[in-house]
Amino acid sequence: MVGQIPQRFIDDLLARVDVVEVVGERVKLKKAGRNYSGLCPFHQEKTPSFTVSQDKQFYHCFGCGAHGTALGFLMEYDNLRFPEAVEQLASRQGLEVPREGADDPQAQAREKKRQEGVNLLELAASFFRERLPMVEGQAARDYLERRGLSREVLRDFGIGYAPDAWDALKQHLVGHNVSEAVQVEYGLLVQREERGRSYDRFRDRVMFPIRDWKGRTIAFGGRVLGDAKPKYLNSPETPVFHKGRELYGLYEARQANRQLDRLVIVEGYMDVVALAQFGIRNAVATLGTSTSEEHLNRLFRLVGEVVFCFDGDNAGRQAARRALETALPQMIDGRQARFLFLPEGEDPDSLVRREGPEAFADRITCASPLSEFLFEQAAEGRDLQRVEDRERFVSAVLKALERLPEGVLKSLLLRELTVRTGVEPARFQALLQAREERAGQANGARGLANEKGASDASRQEEASSSPGRSRSGEPLGLMARTLQLLVHEPELVERLPEELSWCADNEEDGALCREVIRLLRAGRYRSSQVLLAHFHGTREGSRLQALARRELLIPRAARAAELDGLVAHFQQRLFRSSPQNEIDALLARERRGEKLSREEKQRLMELLMTLQGRGAT
Ligand code: UTP
Ligand code: MN
Repeated sequence: MVGQIPQRFIDDLLARVDVVEVVGERVKLKKAGRNYSGLCPFHQEKTPSFTVSQDKQFYHCFGCGAHGTALGFLMEYDNLRFPEAVEQLASRQGLEVPREGADDPQAQAREKKRQEGVNLLELAASFFRERLPMVEGQAARDYLERRGLSREVLRDFGIGYAPDAWDALKQHLVGHNVSEAVQVEYGLLVQREERGRSYDRFRDRVMFPIRDWKGRTIAFGGRVLGDAKPKYLNSPETPVFHKGRELYGLYEARQANRQLDRLVIVEGYMDVVALAQFGIRNAVATLGTSTSEEHLNRLFRLVGEVVFCFDGDNAGRQAARRALETALPQMIDGRQARFLFLPEGEDPDSLVRREGPEAFADRITCASPLSEFLFEQAAEGRDLQRVEDRERFVSAVLKALERLPEGVLKSLLLRELTVRTGVEPARFQALLQAREERAGQANGARGLANEKGASDASRQEEASSSPGRSRSGEPLGLMARTLQLLVHEPELVERLPEELSWCADNEEDGALCREVIRLLRAGRYRSSQVLLAHFHGTREGSRLQALARRELLIPRAARAAELDGLVAHFQQRLFRSSPQNEIDALLARERRGEKLSREEKQRLMELLMTLQGRGAT
């Protein structure tokens, strides 16, 4: 395999394969209207929000947002790199994958180097593993035994030993034709100056291989046997290793559990391994960094529940606050995050040894739900007997809730907030606004640009009034109102006419409204937060979020009628601009087998006649 795969081959290939077939081999799909649907393989769910469209040759999950083509699916599901996925699809079709510049020596050299990179980390991992039982590994074996690790756990985690020498690994790899440059690039050798000598990065350390989804070693962590500094040495960032993305122990947790439903995030390598030793085989560790959005994204695709585990000291509380901030936007319905604080001076490794796996498992079971930690956090340093403090408490909670997607959790928290403080929801808006105004004054011109109303009236006002203020009291444009109704009550989509030309691009919010309707129809899902999650992080997402935050202010029973009225209004406008549109709409309904009323039939005749009349003159 050498050289680039030509784009036209990829296009050709995608035209030949059927995404429904590729996905169907791995996920149980049911035909649902024009599409197929099933349980999403990329996150945990009980009702299907994963759809595959044969027309569009595309899959999409309305729950977690995963989407792509047949190629993308293979990459994600089988964890293949792009060329590997192409190879796999092509071989199903009996096609040979052509390569551009296959004879180009430069391309050959590049390819050779890549292969070297992949192989060399595996080579290194075996090298370290093999040293452990040797004579030179005696001290490391003693150390691991002192830390109470069994042979079985050492094997499962592929733990090894880097000998106490400057070039043991280097010589070994050179013997396997791996160049020094590549060893430096993949973090195994250190080279101080440009042309200086290179030497083994890991010396006299217990070695923990860090593996990717497929179990391939992508980096290492190495611990000293004694108290020397640094205690742990990690591989640097390399072409295959990015600290902020990987989690130590994830591969091993998946290996040990057929069906994972919860993962525990701890701090250290030893914590993961010690918990595994005691039968708690669902712990993962970030690699000396705080938990990132990318980490959580990854975990929530695998499991519905994540438990953060922190030390009971100040640093632990601080880390927990950061984790809460990162987790909030990810909490769509069906996901759960909890917070576990350990007694001061303990880490999971020491605690599980001291009190045993049952007690530790109980701690996990009893960890505080996110909501509790959030309230506790907001209450810290405040005397809730005092009105001012209570109001500050309310706005701190509301501020956090702003970052939470719409859904059951959010409404529960809002209700809970009222119960705890006696502050009525009607006051929430005012408190938030007061907070924003304070922030607006502090920030000067910077404001919540994407949360402003978008009706013409509010646009004009935007120009003249001070920025940074939430305009939730201002009237919405009619299309925005339509969109708002749909965001609050997605099931209303069923009332809308099949044909969507009334929802025109030149209307403010028209294009977004159409997209939302299409999504709601394609996914047949009926919950706002999934809609919001789909658009999360985009400009459209902010727009929808802003609309979702505004109360509808009319009773549920009146909403359908309002929507009908709005659609009729847009249709009238459209029909006035061209009778052809109205004809098309009526004909389309007839074609679908809908019965037109007498008046409508009459109207259709009239329209057709006027149009013919026009054509004749
Ligand atoms: P800790 O200092 O809590 O270590 O660091 P630990 O996991 O309890 O290790 P033992 O029990 O002393 O063997 C937690 C994590 O922080 C990172 C490592 O990922 C470690 O597992 N760390 C720590 C480093 O990367 N470098 C260091 O020097 C120390
Ligand atoms: Mn420890």
